[in-house]
Amino acid sequence: LRVIYKQKDDSSQQLEIPDDAQSVMKAAVNNRVKGIIGECGGVMQCATCHVYVDEDIADSLPPISDQEDEMLEGVATERTEHSRLSCQLFCSTVPVEELTVYVPETQY
Ligand code: FES
Repeated sequence: LRVIYKQKDDSSQQLEIPDDAQSVMKAAVNNRVKGIIGECGGVMQCATCHVYVDEDIADSLPPISDQEDEMLEGVATERTEHSRLSCQLFCSTVPVEELTVYVPETQY
């Protein structure tokens, strides 16, 4: 999976993620993508991995679980219908070859 992380200032970083089991959060943290913190390590306790996904893809991603939904209520920037926790987006479950995510201005 190729993930493009777009920042508020229009800069972006592109990663090729070979490991299907990896999450969009983990790959970002491992590659020091700005603005994705992933403080809890991916167990839905921090909401510092919030991203906005492209609207074209939002509906084809795996549904938001109750716990993800609860955590999304507490994100630092506005929650929209395209908000996701990137720790819950595993490469194997993304049905496209290239995914663009928009990193919010802040996670705190
Ligand atoms: Fe903590 Fe996603 S990394 S909720």
